[in-house]
Amino acid sequence: MAELTLRGVEKRFGAVEAVRALDLDIADGEFIVLVGPSGCGKSTLLRVIAGLEEISGGDILLDGRSLNAVAPRDRDMAMVFQDYALYPHMTVAENLGFALKMRDVPGQEIERNVTEVARMLELDMLLHRKPRALSGGQRQRVALGRALIRNPKIFLFDEPLSNLDAKLRVGMRMEIRKLQVSLKTTSIYVTHDQIEAMTMADRIVVLRHGEVQQIGTPIEIYQRPVNSFVGTFIGSPPMSLLPASLRADEEGASLDFGEGQQIRLPKERARALERAGVANVEVGLRAEHISIDAEPSGANDGAVFASDIVLVEEHGADSIAVVRLGSREAMARVKPGAAHTGETARRFRVDVGALHLFHPETGASLV
Ligand SMILES: Nc1ncnc2c1ncn2[C@@H]1O[C@H](COP(=O)(O)OP(=O)(O)O)[C@@H](O)[C@H]1O
Ligand SMILES: [Mg+2]
Repeated sequence: MAELTLRGVEKRFGAVEAVRALDLDIADGEFIVLVGPSGCGKSTLLRVIAGLEEISGGDILLDGRSLNAVAPRDRDMAMVFQDYALYPHMTVAENLGFALKMRDVPGQEIERNVTEVARMLELDMLLHRKPRALSGGQRQRVALGRALIRNPKIFLFDEPLSNLDAKLRVGMRMEIRKLQVSLKTTSIYVTHDQIEAMTMADRIVVLRHGEVQQIGTPIEIYQRPVNSFVGTFIGSPPMSLLPASLRADEEGASLDFGEGQQIRLPKERARALERAGVANVEVGLRAEHISIDAEPSGANDGAVFASDIVLVEEHGADSIAVVRLGSREAMARVKPGAAHTGETARRFRVDVGALHLFHPETGASLV
């Protein structure tokens, strides 16, 4: 069992509030990803949980017991860092076995554990090498193995894949997740990479300026961002944000993007905006919210706009077309070969039921 509870956790460095009034309940066996831009307090929060930084306020509880007065080495957590932090003068086997040796575990048992972990991480053939004779990916495996061998209650990861090349990162993120699924060890994983957050997390915690913006499953965060920060931070290609003014009429309302381009909103959405009492909104459009109009010669039912195609990016399975809506650009996800850079006056359809509407000043979602 390893349930972690954070209650009003704060961490200040002088005048810098690195973590502010943070509440979080992590279930036993859960894989939680803390994500946010550089400097938002991710590492600080992880270090506070590990006990490497003293807490400035609040409580951290492991299975209901306060950790505030518990020394880092007694918290039964193992941390994996971005820079691996291996002992350069020790072999892979010695690096792996070091934590057990410090605990006076008998030699034979250490050897058995090292063999087992090396097999799990495919390090069997490298046990006698020193870290300098390993590739970046192999070093990261050893760092992972050092955490695994301790069989801790909680794994803490601080951007463990950031030093690896893109291809290796994709492979390693799956391996880490597969290992965690089989071990069922409660894990907290820090990254600035929203794709890692989306692909790895049971639940994502989005942080900004030391504050939680949203906590939810990857799908919840992607489909129902609470504000424009979360909406634009999560997702690839990024959500386009376009200012629009509201034009109310008898049947409902339209979004006016300027330059003669308008999109009609369904009744319920128009009503939600009326309740919010705003005259302008930020419209959040994901690439899949804009498609090529299937009936290019048909009448405009209000969800269609015309645009030149500024650029097409091929992604293989689909293409991203950059289009103009009002004075801004937005991205549309289209079939490969369906759009070409430089084409003029193509018709696009907006998914008016799915697009996001945000408050123009606060950025809060208006739904
Ligand atoms: N030891 C420290 N002393 C002073 N300020 C710090 C210290 N560690 C972190 N900070 C500040 O706290 C904020 C959060 O930092 P950090 O947790 O490292 O961010 P992240 O890991 O999300 O990039 C930053 O403004 C950083 O400058
Ligand atoms: Mg950091």
